[in-house]
Amino acid sequence: MAIVTTTEMFKKAYNGGYAIGAFNVNNMEIIQGITEAAIDLKAPLILQVSKGARSYAKHVYLMKLIEAAVADAEQSAGFDLPIAVHLDHGDSFELCKSCIDGGFSSVMIDKSGLPIEENIKITKQVVEYAHDHGVVVEAELGTLAGVEDEVNVSAEDSSYTKPEDVQHFVEETGCDSLAIAIGTSHGAYKFTAAQCTRDPETGKLIPPPLRFDILEEVAKRLPGFPIVLHGSSSVPQEFVDKINKFGGKMPDAVGIPEAQLREAAKMAVCKINIDSDLRLALTACIREHFAEHPDHFDPRQYLKPGREAIRAMVAHKIVDVLGCDGKA
Ligand code: G3H
Ligand code: 13P
Ligand code: ZN
Repeated sequence: MAIVTTTEMFKKAYNGGYAIGAFNVNNMEIIQGITEAAIDLKAPLILQVSKGARSYAKHVYLMKLIEAAVADAEQSAGFDLPIAVHLDHGDSFELCKSCIDGGFSSVMIDKSGLPIEENIKITKQVVEYAHDHGVVVEAELGTLAGVEDEVNVSAEDSSYTKPEDVQHFVEETGCDSLAIAIGTSHGAYKFTAAQCTRDPETGKLIPPPLRFDILEEVAKRLPGFPIVLHGSSSVPQEFVDKINKFGGKMPDAVGIPEAQLREAAKMAVCKINIDSDLRLALTACIREHFAEHPDHFDPRQYLKPGREAIRAMVAHKIVDVLGCDGKA
């Protein structure tokens, strides 16, 4: 199967009460770990590429690796894996155009930091070009705390999506999906200690709940329309503990509880973005590997288990968080 858009995936996900995982990719092992889990579980998949990933690995390498993953699914598993290739946090028309011209099936234009009418203007320009080329567009309203690609967005700047804006925005821009801000944020430190309570037994932070009231209100105003959640890593404490045990320093790393993401996936949320958990799985595995095998220096010796750790983590997300196993 060729690379597909998210249109069919989202329609089925919306009606079926599940979400598609959108995983950020930067190299071969990450792409392989994710796609192998999706093949094993017959799960539809979105592989997304940030501006940073594109400058790290180059567009052509990532595109060819993703094409190889599609071919491998066909050849080794005899299975047509539907994969959408998506630009994450596109910050300009030119960047979106370059990804559309370069074979992506979906792009995000993120002008959520601008006043709404300016956001509408640029989003509309991207939508027109994308739709003329058979590509779909994700846009964003509301601002997430944390890091939005290379731009720092401080916690104070974070503002939830205003439900009263969403209909006007979607009608004016013609976008195909909408990312909203309901309390998620990017990175492995999603909340400060002051925003959380602390579990007296484990000493771990317990984050404040997501704003499901905003999600419900948005869903009511946009019936049948796919909603996207960014910043949806759970920051599994087993990875954080392993990183800290084997020489790392990530005190108070905290993410979004998986049960809340599962709840959102049952509602109008059709796409859940995960990047930090991939990084944590890989880093925890490699730190442990070197602690146990200080003599190793062949990258295959630690990248192979790293790839397996990603595969296992993604398989868990597909089954227990997204609920999209068997839906491809
Ligand atoms: O939302 C941002 C993604 O996690 C991408 O991060 O810019 O470090 O590739 P990156
Ligand atoms: P996390 O940092 O929670 O993985 O978010 C990833 C993301 O939103 C990519 O756009
Ligand atoms: Zn994001």
